[in-house]
Amino acid sequence: MERVSVPVPGRPYEVVVGAGVLDRIGELLPDLPGAEVAFVVTDPAVADRVPALASGLEPRRLRAVPLPVPAGEEAKTLDVYRAVVQQLAAREAHRDDLVVALGGGAVGDLAGFAASTYMRGMPLAQVPTTLTGQVDAAIGGKTAVNLPEGKNLVGTFHQPRLVLADVETLATLPERHLRSGLAEVAKVALTLDPELLERLERDPVPVVARDPEALTWVVARCAAAKARVVAGDEREAGPRMVLNYGHTLGHAIERLEAYAGRTHGEAVAVGMEFAARLAVAHGLAAADLVGRTRRLLASLGLDPDGALPSVGAIEQALRLDKKFRGVVRFVLLAGVGRPVVVDDVPMTRVREVLLEMGAPP
Ligand SMILES: NC(=O)c1ccc[n+]([C@@H]2O[C@H](COP(=O)([O-])OP(=O)(O)OC[C@H]3O[C@@H](n4cnc5c(N)ncnc54)[C@H](O)[C@@H]3O)[C@@H](O)[C@H]2O)c1
Ligand SMILES: [Zn+2]
Repeated sequence: MERVSVPVPGRPYEVVVGAGVLDRIGELLPDLPGAEVAFVVTDPAVADRVPALASGLEPRRLRAVPLPVPAGEEAKTLDVYRAVVQQLAAREAHRDDLVVALGGGAVGDLAGFAASTYMRGMPLAQVPTTLTGQVDAAIGGKTAVNLPEGKNLVGTFHQPRLVLADVETLATLPERHLRSGLAEVAKVALTLDPELLERLERDPVPVVARDPEALTWVVARCAAAKARVVAGDEREAGPRMVLNYGHTLGHAIERLEAYAGRTHGEAVAVGMEFAARLAVAHGLAAADLVGRTRRLLASLGLDPDGALPSVGAIEQALRLDKKFRGVVRFVLLAGVGRPVVVDDVPMTRVREVLLEMGAPP
């Protein structure tokens, strides 16, 4: 079991990572004065984990009440949000009770939003069951639901009291979702954790094969990296931008594919290949960054190649990015572990790199 502290100002919390830690939630939760019920917002894919969680909560005299929601992204709507808070009201939840998010990043975002708004805020525990959730979404306190107009447009910052990442839950995760999470792992390794990078380069096999010990180590390293960044920038004013490495192009691709093509991680993998090439073209990084990035992604089962939308379409999508302020800002690497935010990359260079990657004009 690994414990990582997230030292946000005011109320620091822990990320606990390990195999089979789910039923230890009772001993790991901090003091919750007045809490009687734990409302467990649950993705159907992991509903069979509710009993373990419930028995873990028993010693704390917390009664577990499951609140099932639709699987994955379908849960992140205002309608589902309304259903959840109405359930809380119907069951007379009070503000000292606990909300537990049991599921992937989608359930985490939805349950977090409900917990942060019902009665102006209830305590929240994140129990992420996807790799993306464990290394990224559950840590940092961002919550959101989607609108038809765009993703994550309505949300809050609401830090959890505990993040409990049981790597055993990842055993049932579909391969494609595992790989999507591995893209975020690669992102952390390239931008923030050279030791993690070296370990993955030395031997990626146990991680890809979901060896619980390897996953525990990797998830804990990623959690620690995110914790460091988040603690220094709780509300995403600056340093947290580093976590967007590969995401500027990644988001553009996802949007252009109407969220029905590549997964988030697959799009981010392409984005990291692009960022590496751009850093070299911009004179920031040495040429071997591209090869190193490609080898890492390939070893994790990610394909940075594949058909790209047209350069024109990508350029337009980049301009629609919510971080667009007249220029496109990119997180680039001056070398592994040395991220910098640049806003002086001329569009012509962006186009050149996209053409070099095989995007049609
Ligand atoms: N708040 C943040 O900081 C943050 C960061 C990154 C991503 N996100 C959000 O997270 C979401 C993506 O999260 P995700 O990749 O975890 O996807 P997800 O929550 O949509 O889950 C992916 C799929 O896996 C299933 N699933 C979950 N756990 C499982 C398990 N253990 N075994 C088998 N199936 C399982 C789900 O039912 C779903 O179909 C997006 O909505 C994204 O916006 C938020
Ligand atoms: Zn991401």
